[in-house]
Formats: sequence, C-alpha cells, structure tokens
Amino acid sequence: MCAASAPVTHVTLSARQVRALVEARDRAENTLDVSLDLGRSTTAVSLSTEGVVGPTGLLSWSAIETIRTDEIGCFAVSGSECRRLQSMSTVTGRLASLYATDGPPALLLSGTLMHRIKGVHPGQDTDLKLAPLHSLKGSRVLDTATGLGYTAIEARRRGAATVHTVEFDPAVVDLQRLNPWSQDLFDSDQIICGEGDIADIIEEFEEDQFDRILHDPPVLELAGDLYGGAFYRQLHRVLARHGRLFHYIGNLESPSGKRVVPGVIRRLEEAGFVDVKRHPEAFGVSARA
Ligand SMILES: C[S@@+](CC[C@H](N)C(=O)[O-])C[C@H]1O[C@@H](n2cnc3c(N)ncnc32)[C@H](O)[C@@H]1O
Repeated sequence: MCAASAPVTHVTLSARQVRALVEARDRAENTLDVSLDLGRSTTAVSLSTEGVVGPTGLLSWSAIETIRTDEIGCFAVSGSECRRLQSMSTVTGRLASLYATDGPPALLLSGTLMHRIKGVHPGQDTDLKLAPLHSLKGSRVLDTATGLGYTAIEARRRGAATVHTVEFDPAVVDLQRLNPWSQDLFDSDQIICGEGDIADIIEEFEEDQFDRILHDPPVLELAGDLYGGAFYRQLHRVLARHGRLFHYIGNLESPSGKRVVPGVIRRLEEAGFVDVKRHPEAFGVSARA
C-alpha cells in the first residue's frame, strides 16, 4: 500500500463537471446528480443562489466560474477556496499537473502528456498497455513508473498477486494523493509503492522476482537511462523465465517513434529478451524473457 492519502475535505472538479452545474442553475433547478470526483462517481447536490451544497459544504459560484473557464485544469474545491491540481517538483524543477479528459485525468509533466488523450482516454490507454502482458492472474508484477498509478491499479484489479511500482518525482506523488482515480493505490496491501529512481531501485530486486513487467517511462528525452542497455539488462534479470514485458514508447508510426524503436528492439534483444514484437495499437513493444 502507498503511504496514506489525506482525509478528503474537498471535492475535485474540472470544467466538464461544473458545466452541468451552471446549466442546471440556469434552468432554475434545485438539485442535480453530478460528479464531485472528476467523473469517478456521482453525488446528489442542491443548488442555491450562493452556490452548490455538497458533502463537504458549500461550493461558491465564483469558484465554479474559475473552473468553468479552464478547459484542461483539475481543481480541489473547499468552500470559496479553489486550488488547481499542480505541483512544482523539488527534484526536477518541472511542473506536474492533472489534465482533464473524458475519462481519468492525464498527467502533464513539464508540458508533456504522460498518457494518451487523442482517440483514447487514459483509462483506455491503460487497457491497451496491459493487453500485451496477457493474463495477470496470480502474477508478480513490476510497474516501473507509477505516474498516477493507473497501470498498477488495473494490474491488481486483473488479479496480479502483487504489484511493485516506483515513482521518482515527489510532485507526482502529491498528485496521486489528490487524484480520485489514484486512490486504490492507497487502499491495496498488494500494491507496494517505492519512491526513487527505478534505475537504482531495480538493483535491489532479486533475479526472477517478477512474472510481468510494465515499463511505461516518460519519453526518451526526459528519461534516457530508462531506454538504455544497462537498464534493459536489469529488466531481464528480474523477469522470470518466460515472463512477459510490455515497454511503452509512444506512437510507433510518428517520426520520433520510427527513430527510437529500432534501437529499443536491438537493445532489448542484446539484453536477452526474445520474441520482441511491435504493438502499434498500444504504442509500444512486447517481449519475453
Ligand atoms: C508515463 S508516466 C507513467 C504512467 C503510469 N503507468 C500510469 O498508469 O499512470 C511516467 C512516470 O515515470 C516517472 N519517472 C520518470 N523517471 C523515473 C525514474 N527514473 N524512476 C521512476 N519513475 C520515473 C515520471 O515522473 C512519471 O510519473
């Protein structure tokens, strides 16, 4: 289980949810079922001239208006206080923020999206990344880069016995605590969260410790080590014989995908992986130990 998240004293909203509130107010309605957790569930709220009364008290119309005019931001709202969900990393100096989508929010790191949002939302992106790993039932999974925890949470939901996952950036860990869609990270004893650089932490894992590895690093320009031969040799060392790897890379048909993929495949094979296959639908490659 990840270190406990703070008790919830706020609701979490984006323009997608508050639009429905403003429209209900304009139709002079008094109640509405709306999501107060970025689309994860719905709650009945009442509307008044001062604002919206929900489980954490009154949300003012001025706070709601701030959110309505920001197409991509996600906000924690408590009364008239409205905080955009973003955090400056003390380690990388980069801004990390939640980016609203039609599904779970994406992670934006220093202006680069860490999940797909075109054609698929981050929930569907997660399914695509896990499909090449086949069955996860009873398996020991290594999820190399936690991000918002979607792949770790989904791997556990699909029956993984344990999921080890590691996040480097404390600003991303802050966002996990605030993102309603990341909360299962904090509720499952079978998800084991590490904080630090996976390139160091992987050396502490035993040979053959995992049956499945989901390697979902940032783009090569932000995390070159995680695409290097030395790191791939470590992945191969900790993956049990016949175990499966999926390595997310980005659109294989894009100019950068075409540039990066041949080197990735060559280095995976040099590290000992076999049966390396392209998965254009999932933006990555799979391999077996
Ligand atoms: C593409 S995102 C992972 C998304 C994740 N699979 C999910 O479901 O939300 C990549 C993450 O790797 C983290 N990261 C970057 N370098 C890392 C490193 N050396 N060790 C561990 N995590 C790292 C970034 O901060 C970012 O949160």
